[in-house]
Amino acid sequence: MPHGNRARASARRVSDAVRAQVLTLARPADGRSRRAGAEALPNMDPRDRLIVALDTPSLADAEAIADRLGDVVRWFKIGPHLFATSGPDAIASLRRRGRVFLDMKYHDIPSTVAAGIEAAARQGVALCTVHAAGGTAMMRAAVEAARRGAAAAGHAPPRVVGVTLLTSADAPMLAEIGLTGSPQEAAVRMARLARAAGVDGAVASPLEAAAIRDACGPAFLLVCPGIRPAGAPEGDQRRVETPRGAVAAGADLLVVGRPITGAADPQAAARAILDEIANV
Ligand code: C5P
Repeated sequence: MPHGNRARASARRVSDAVRAQVLTLARPADGRSRRAGAEALPNMDPRDRLIVALDTPSLADAEAIADRLGDVVRWFKIGPHLFATSGPDAIASLRRRGRVFLDMKYHDIPSTVAAGIEAAARQGVALCTVHAAGGTAMMRAAVEAARRGAAAAGHAPPRVVGVTLLTSADAPMLAEIGLTGSPQEAAVRMARLARAAGVDGAVASPLEAAAIRDACGPAFLLVCPGIRPAGAPEGDQRRVETPRGAVAAGADLLVVGRPITGAADPQAAARAILDEIANV
């Protein structure tokens, strides 16, 4: 293994333990789930790394997919579509089946973002998003609100992560909105800003994961959408990677929507992804 890869692999083993604690997802390591070379450290079950995006028009549709996935999937993502139709009912229903990632990508004045995050934290979501482009004051307000809301309801505080760049963004789109540099430079800049503001991690394309990991260190939680198993259509995603490639690049949590929800057998599609990342 080249030196750079070896150093990265070793840093990853340490960071696995740190990040497992960050998300309080660590489970007692057993013989089967241990990664070679990580004997002294807790390992994350692949099921704790996969988030299924339930971008469905109704809660009934989301529940139907979640039920088909069964205990193969432990994380569900609610985005603007499902939230607009079913909001708190969707959170409550999916919390009965696993952990909830509320992905509203807030970008507003600090007090408005804080109010939205506090309300979500009261409902027990485990992970939520703000745009790093919203700036330091907004991100700080979000983190404080997450703690406040969770404490008021007796939940563990949700992790707040900053969206760096949408995975649908490409160089022409960055130029269109006046962002300088390549998508990778812009994503790293946003991730550094998010880290300095005290959020727990970042959402980024897996193509930027390694650069963000290098810039932001082992404890920074990296959530990667834009995941496409080999042969799956890209759809409107631009900067995509396979599940294995994303984890190898340093992704902690993979967000996968249509390749699972649009599959004839969603559970089989999820299992195939878990198998693919199990020994990366
Ligand atoms: O269906 P697909 O796998 O493309 O779904 C990806 C999910 O990840 C969508 O719900 C999308 O909103 C979300 N997402 C993304 N890019 C980001 C942040 C979130 O695609 N930067």
